[in-house]
Amino acid sequence: MSRLDGKRILVGVTGGIAAYKSAELVRLLGKQGAEVRVVMTAAAGEFITPMTLQALSGYPVRQSLFDQAHEAAMGHIELARWADLILIAPASADFMARLAQGMADDLLTTLCLARTVPLAIAPAMNQAMWANPATQANLATLQSRGIDCWGPDAGSQACGEVGPGRMLEPEAQTELVIARLSAGPLQGVKVLLTAGPTREPIDPVRYVGNRSSGKMGFSLARALREAGADVSLVSGPVSLATPAGVKRTDVETALQMRQAVLEQVVECDIFVACAAVADYRPREVAGQKIKKQQEQLEIRLERNPDILAEVAALESPPFTVGFAAETDKPIEYAQQKRKNKRVNMVAANLVGAEQGGFERDENALTVVWEGGQQALPMSDKGELAKRLVELIVEQYEQNN
Ligand code: PMT
Repeated sequence: MSRLDGKRILVGVTGGIAAYKSAELVRLLGKQGAEVRVVMTAAAGEFITPMTLQALSGYPVRQSLFDQAHEAAMGHIELARWADLILIAPASADFMARLAQGMADDLLTTLCLARTVPLAIAPAMNQAMWANPATQANLATLQSRGIDCWGPDAGSQACGEVGPGRMLEPEAQTELVIARLSAGPLQGVKVLLTAGPTREPIDPVRYVGNRSSGKMGFSLARALREAGADVSLVSGPVSLATPAGVKRTDVETALQMRQAVLEQVVECDIFVACAAVADYRPREVAGQKIKKQQEQLEIRLERNPDILAEVAALESPPFTVGFAAETDKPIEYAQQKRKNKRVNMVAANLVGAEQGGFERDENALTVVWEGGQQALPMSDKGELAKRLVELIVEQYEQNN
């Protein structure tokens, strides 16, 4: 059985060079068993022909709100209700702006306004257009209304520039459609997750930091989202794209991370602490760059609050999952951390120059909980995250 059997997807195509990839998206969705109907804006017709999308979907492509023949067959309101999901790919900056304004001046915006089903957009545009505060404000508006934003990816663009703005690849969009339409085990569960390093400033140009790349935490955010969870990610400074459908708050220091977590934790069911939070921060932060006048320089450090321990000690704590990055005896220390911090599960991570853990694309974990443990062997962090999420689901369900 294909994974989208019986599902009805309405693909909206707007004007942008990435429209040529919509053909592949329609093909992949159909291959997974979905019934796909395509609606194009007038501008999309400048980039791809309706004939191509009709051939791939097997249905006539709709372009106009005032097409009597099509309206007689299935009116626009019916079409909006027919779909299980509407996906706009690519979504241009102009389309996002019109959607945010609630406009209904063509067939696609009208369908979006009349819909009662989930709506996702896969933006594609020049990187400066994406970064423009107007586009970002429109995005925030759309997300606050429950519209999923999938991508964009970063990389080289058709216009010759480099940066975020490339449409998420059709394969990745197809996986997200499958995840969005299948009731995962964490459907309706709110997860708050920390990831990446923290940076503790010494002066305006230097900081105390660590080697965390954020890869493990971001893979977990993606796996949790794919399991159906509503994921909020609090991230230290990393250069990774936000996984589709995940809400992200960026912070720099441990104190900022703590504040962001405490602001959001009341609403969450599961808290996962994957961030490599600096245990100490410089006691004084110099206002000006420290000059190299002395032979030796002493920097006094003071303890940072332990965010995970603080969350676990709340009056009604969420289900808590911590990590333990250790250079030796990881399982022993992980068990100690689990008991001392009173958390439900701890993923022991052997780290170091030879063992890895930090920065690399692969990792291995041993997960411990009261009365049990399981080793998750070395694998790609994406795969490992999926295995860890399966364990979290098992233990979370047993605790609820
Ligand atoms: O980001 P990558 O390059 O992919 O690397 C992944 C990783 C090695 C960073 C990750 O797998 C990992 O092990 N994260 C935890 C790192 C860590 O700080 O471990 P710890 O043993 O020092 O801390 C124990 C736990 O307490 C962790 O869950 C940590 O998030 C939390 N903690 C620690 C200190 C602090 N002040 N507040 C915290 O919440």
